[in-house]
Amino acid sequence: MNVLVIGGGGREHTLCWKIKQSDQCETLYAAPGNAGTANCAINLPLSVTDFEGIKNAVVEYSIDLVIVGPEEPLVKGIHDYFLQDKSVSHVGIIGPQKAAANLEGSKAFAKEFMYRHQIPTASYAEFTSKNISEGEAYLANTQSPYVLKADGLAAGKGVVILEDLEEAKKELRRMLLEKKFGTASSKVVIEEFLSGIELSCFVLTDGESYLTLPMAKDYKRIGEGDTGLNTGGMGAISPVPFVSEAFEEKIDKKIIRPTIDGLKKDGMPYKGFVFIGLIKVGEEPKVIEYNVRLGDPETEVVLPRLKTDLLSLLTAVHAGRLNEINLEIEPKTAATVMAVSGGYPEAYEKGKQITGLDEEIGLVFHAGTRLGEEGVVTDGGRVLAATSFGKNSNEAVIKSFRTLEKINFEGMYYREDIGFDL
Ligand code: AMP
Ligand code: GLY
Repeated sequence: MNVLVIGGGGREHTLCWKIKQSDQCETLYAAPGNAGTANCAINLPLSVTDFEGIKNAVVEYSIDLVIVGPEEPLVKGIHDYFLQDKSVSHVGIIGPQKAAANLEGSKAFAKEFMYRHQIPTASYAEFTSKNISEGEAYLANTQSPYVLKADGLAAGKGVVILEDLEEAKKELRRMLLEKKFGTASSKVVIEEFLSGIELSCFVLTDGESYLTLPMAKDYKRIGEGDTGLNTGGMGAISPVPFVSEAFEEKIDKKIIRPTIDGLKKDGMPYKGFVFIGLIKVGEEPKVIEYNVRLGDPETEVVLPRLKTDLLSLLTAVHAGRLNEINLEIEPKTAATVMAVSGGYPEAYEKGKQITGLDEEIGLVFHAGTRLGEEGVVTDGGRVLAATSFGKNSNEAVIKSFRTLEKINFEGMYYREDIGFDL
């Protein structure tokens, strides 16, 4: 079968790498892809929200299955767009329709969903410019730290956590009145601060049954010891040592099952990955957020641990036969270390020549790269993710350092402490 992966980051390169291993895969395309996907797929120069362009490509190349990597096309309704067009309505789309994609597209919608289905999460209230003084009063009655969330998509930057009440009130005004995050912050969710350790849980569902993929932990801060600005993710490990079997059962019973059942009860079709951002508060799991896609860089450790053929899994999702599939997981620990551009997550330069990629150096997924005239060059803040296996995360991470030591580009930086806190 012919397959298209939408997106151009490390997650999408990993998806392409894994799908290409399937006997069922004939021609693989990526849109727009990057220099890494170009090694295993045919890159199509299309934007991820160019629905018409994507549809035309699907028709032209007889594509049977489309895997949507990032959230933006899902929240904008790419799945619905395909279903409504007779020329492509038969094509399998991995990723939910717009209604369920709102779980990531609107924090308020996600909170209402969790409350409706008694899924453990932080207590909250939502405010707009119309009831800003109620929002200020709510803050005054809440304990510090204050968690303010722009309702809509804000490129991962829409969550602000502040210690000081007056600062929090100012931030609320900036979000609601000055539209700090554009229309994304025309509604703001104020939430109870939860203290604990975070983990990422990925579930694949066909809307009826589901399979839980290996848990992962992502390292979000730019600096070692989890300091400095938030990034898209500087590294990840899987499995997560503090997730015991008993804790995983709790996650299943209290969170995953009610989520999948809740989608069904609410009549929201869902064929795709659910990313549940969890926090372990004492011995209890609580939901921090839903995403309607795989995480990045978690994908770079989760998919390499999957022994089951990914394309068989995804075609089973499309056919509603996921209950017929068993997951086989590599028991070893996988770790990925992300090499980023100097300056990231603030301003950084692109177009830097990357050397050392030609030899057999280990598993390297491209996150922000493109093919320049003289080879592969940087094309984003997060550039390359080096994934390795080991008997524990330290062993795996050290192997990834060995890989990255052979690679070079101007300004290259990576954290040397991924997984060391565990
Ligand atoms: P989100 O965009 O919802 O994932 O939030 C970004 C980050 O903010 C999360 O990964 C957490 O580290 C933090 N965060 C979000 N909500 C809370 C909360 N209620 N309590 C503590 N930290 C939070
Ligand atoms: N690594 C977190 C995310 O993909 O949102």
